[in-house]
Amino acid sequence: MNKENSAALKIEQKIDSLLALMTLEEKIGQMSQARHFDDISEEDIATKFIGSVIHTQGPLPGKDALEWQAKFTSLQKKALSTRLGIPLLFGVDAVHGQNTYEGATMFPHNIGLGASQNAELVAQAAAITALEAQATGFNWVFSPCVAIPYNEKWGRVYEAFSESTELTEKMTAASIRGHQGNLSDRHTVMATAKHFIGDGSTNFGEEGGETTLSPQQIEERLLPPYKAAIKEGVGSIMASFNTISDKAMHANKELITDLLKNTLKFDGIMVSDWKGYSRFGESDIINAGIDMVMAVDGDLDPFQEGLRKSVEDGSVSQDRIDDAVRRILRQKYRLNLFENPFPDSNLINKIGAQAHRDVARQSVRESLVLLKNDNHTLPLDKKTPKIVVVGEHAHSTGLQSGGWTINWQGTLENYAGATSILEGIEKLAQGEVVYDRHATATPDGADVAIIVVGEVPYAEFFGDIGHESNELTLTLTQEHQNYISTYAAKGIPTVVLLISGRPLVVTEQIEQSKAFVAAWLPGSEGDGIAEVLFGDYDFKGKLPHSWPKSLADVRGTYGPNFWDNTIRPLFRFGYGLNY
Ligand code: BGC
Repeated sequence: MNKENSAALKIEQKIDSLLALMTLEEKIGQMSQARHFDDISEEDIATKFIGSVIHTQGPLPGKDALEWQAKFTSLQKKALSTRLGIPLLFGVDAVHGQNTYEGATMFPHNIGLGASQNAELVAQAAAITALEAQATGFNWVFSPCVAIPYNEKWGRVYEAFSESTELTEKMTAASIRGHQGNLSDRHTVMATAKHFIGDGSTNFGEEGGETTLSPQQIEERLLPPYKAAIKEGVGSIMASFNTISDKAMHANKELITDLLKNTLKFDGIMVSDWKGYSRFGESDIINAGIDMVMAVDGDLDPFQEGLRKSVEDGSVSQDRIDDAVRRILRQKYRLNLFENPFPDSNLINKIGAQAHRDVARQSVRESLVLLKNDNHTLPLDKKTPKIVVVGEHAHSTGLQSGGWTINWQGTLENYAGATSILEGIEKLAQGEVVYDRHATATPDGADVAIIVVGEVPYAEFFGDIGHESNELTLTLTQEHQNYISTYAAKGIPTVVLLISGRPLVVTEQIEQSKAFVAAWLPGSEGDGIAEVLFGDYDFKGKLPHSWPKSLADVRGTYGPNFWDNTIRPLFRFGYGLNY
């Protein structure tokens, strides 16, 4: 027997011994993931035998990383004080860096990493995210999102790498590898491939809506990234909010148990999404194969009591419970949590470290996609006498970072450690730089205008546009359109940077500008953009999505995706110029 097999066998033997000692309450406890503040007191960790704690939007665990670690250390001690001393998993939505912690390195959202097509870079970004997550007390992240977005109206397009299955597959493997490393040291974390399955391919891009793809389309287009994740040993997979044939994915035994676990041999934790228990059929989700339940916002007690009753009345089998607990314990052993349950305070000074920011800045540079460059407007000469920079997005690190930054819905404020796009331009320009935030000044004698426009941050359904349009649209606001037309009308050459979580319909604005760059949501290192605009580096990014020409193209169930050849996009998947 080789070393790996014998280590795995040892883990299974340890699980057997532990399972044999556990009461039903202790097992259900392991299956419970609670929030560290509202649902539980510290005492509940022990009395309810909680298996995992989640931190996401809401009160912070402390004012700095030391306090975060102290908080989770104290919860961990509670868990270890129980009869069997099973350590907790601490999970966080670190989806583009440890984005819940102000001062951490924030990478471009996945859509930008998809544009880089650089899997090695994705692995590095994931390893850094893992380290910074560990430094703030976590051993589990709910990332990467491996959706294949079909419709740009979905509010989570930016959380996914690409509309291309192949590219997503490649990036998923790299991301899992980077996050998990060998798993057992305290520098890596368990990753989560999410949301299984069909999250990005609902009708009209509605978060949690119905997916009408055929089983064959699901298998060919959506499943490959999950296969890649399993091959990399992904520790967990999260169920999706959407339905397929009107059946909640959380309760879909065919896809979760039969396909993922039995056929594809996924041996990790199938975790529910937010309040999955009360939303999607209570014990049905356990029978479908959910192993751990995000029992938050009032779900904890109903879940624990409900599941106990279901086991007692035979509607959930003891075997199913044992399988769930086995999977949870297996990951805890793989993470070496029994030996090494506490965060490492030596990691704290790595949060937002220069070496990490350098990788994030490289990611920003490589994510930029040049869509137009008439008359070699770019690269800009550093000696240009007068450059005007326009738009609130040019000087707001919150706006440039999108959702899941500091807060769930992002922030409109500047945040610690981040650099704005304007600051990057000011650093490299040798002539005068004027900032005209709302295009009201249009200064005389400008040689070029860099106009930064785009979306305001959103997350999940807040970013959905829906098939009956609501406040959000796939176009720029009138105000942002005016920034561009005002400068174009003055005959000043305009370089437009688009900050957005998805392709927008900007055909007219592209026509009005001399150069146009899709910059996605770059995160904390806004200065990476200037390094490319001024030619220190060339453009490398290629479109991770086909780009719609008109709003009419985005009518219907799905957007103008590359597999619908009746709609011609403005730019095809993979497009991108360079110098
Ligand atoms: C989202 C997940 C996220 C979870 C925990 C849910 O609403 O769909 O992606 O991991 O919340 O915050």
